[in-house]
Amino acid sequence: METTRHRYRYALVTQRENVKAVKSALQEKGVFGRSVQPLVVGGDVRGGDGGVVTTPKTTNDEGDRFLLHTTVLIRSPAPDEESDEPSTVLADLPPDLKDIPNVLYALAIPVDSTSVPGNGSKPSSLLTPSEPASPVYAALSRYLHSHPPTSAGGISTSVEELLSTAPKRYSYYPPLLLLPTGTFASEEWKAYIKHNPEILESLSKAVQGVTHVAVNAPIHVSSIVRSPDRLWKLYPPEWALSKHSGVQDDGKIDFDEALWVQTTQSSIPQTWPPEHVMFSRGNITEKARILNLPKRDVAGKEVADLYAGIGYFVFSYVKAGAKRVWAWEVNPWSVESLKRGCALNGWACRVVGMGEKWMDVAEEIDGKGKEDEVKVVVFHESNEKAVTRVREIEELRDKKEGLLKMAHVNLGYLPSSRMSWGSAVELVDKLGGVVHVHENVAEAGIEDKAEEVVMEMTRIWAELDDETRDCKVKCEKIVKVKTFAPGVWHVVYDVRFGELEG
Ligand SMILES: C[S@@+](CC[C@H](N)C(=O)[O-])C[C@H]1O[C@@H](n2cnc3c(N)ncnc32)[C@H](O)[C@@H]1O
Repeated sequence: METTRHRYRYALVTQRENVKAVKSALQEKGVFGRSVQPLVVGGDVRGGDGGVVTTPKTTNDEGDRFLLHTTVLIRSPAPDEESDEPSTVLADLPPDLKDIPNVLYALAIPVDSTSVPGNGSKPSSLLTPSEPASPVYAALSRYLHSHPPTSAGGISTSVEELLSTAPKRYSYYPPLLLLPTGTFASEEWKAYIKHNPEILESLSKAVQGVTHVAVNAPIHVSSIVRSPDRLWKLYPPEWALSKHSGVQDDGKIDFDEALWVQTTQSSIPQTWPPEHVMFSRGNITEKARILNLPKRDVAGKEVADLYAGIGYFVFSYVKAGAKRVWAWEVNPWSVESLKRGCALNGWACRVVGMGEKWMDVAEEIDGKGKEDEVKVVVFHESNEKAVTRVREIEELRDKKEGLLKMAHVNLGYLPSSRMSWGSAVELVDKLGGVVHVHENVAEAGIEDKAEEVVMEMTRIWAELDDETRDCKVKCEKIVKVKTFAPGVWHVVYDVRFGELEG
């Protein structure tokens, strides 16, 4: 049987005002695909030869977006459809496209097709009408056909049955091949793998550069530090058998012992240990929005991120020109990820350990010359200490630089960031600053939640001993980032403080 297999090209998504600049950059590099088209959210984009891709259903009301086709082919891996924003790609953009500014994200557009011997499986919901190339599926199929299952372990199955639930989608975070949640969950697959463990090695060879293979699992909501405890490690065997690489028997951490993976989004490399911290690819549009905030709102300003994680938003602010980002993070693995991520991006970063006094590090951080300015200060402690820290910093700086007013305070914690609204109000610049409040909200309650946030922040502000408290608080933007569960949205409320009009 033959299956049609597409090749893909990159198409870049940008806002209306940046179309000209992105087009010129593509033309300069000689990779402009001679076509610009408006992007319809959740709509179809046609490539050549009947290939169609559906754009993400992210309704972030950022105004018009446009798609600029390029001539750059996506080589390996095949477009990744594993997660919640399946048709977006930005990871490891090739050199030709990497440094073009103002690109929100990229799409994989099918451009032509080749007929290859294949499995005849039904088309994916995203890439119709033809089956996308899936090296993962192909590797499993090849192995199964050359090693058909026997009725070992009391479980009988067939090549066809196993293939009917074999994964086609995957994420590649070098050097890890990450399969979608639920992969190999059936008793049949488990028995087959137990008796044919070599299939995992074949699978690892499906995508060039892979050294480790795992199956993804959702983060437990009760995990405050967002630890992916249920990641199912499959290959290599010694890794699969290890409990948590990088954690010694006495509980001490050896960061270098762990597996570290990488990806690049919006030209910002990030790194993290997948056994210890989460990575959410689905936030890509929100990160891109922060990256593209108006210059006057970010350039040269101080920013606080009270839930810094591995730096998703921290890096966007630095890249957008912030003077410095002050980050709080409790998970030591995330703190290390932030530090390593800063190094990858060439930004000086200083971690302030738990209990370390500001007066002991102030000179080192604030005393630097312009060229080695510390761009990111990470406090490895709970954000409950953030206000006290900032007051300490201000006290020492007083005469030199005055108060530390945050132009942005990021509260990226779900299902609710309610517990840090008070700190955010204290930290934000009351003359024009914005608090970005992340919440999971039922569709019908999105507007009401905006009112609640504004009322509560106004109340908190009124209680502060602060001469600016007669100014106003306003929710100036509601961004629906992605659906968290049916009917429930991850929403960001931009709450601005200041002498607002109206
Ligand atoms: C969902 S992650 C967010 C990371 C990143 N901002 C993002 O949007 O993906 C939340 C992070 O907050 C950290 N965290 C939770 N409670 C905290 C607290 N009280 N103080 C500082 N960090 C905290 C967790 O360890 C985790 O890394």
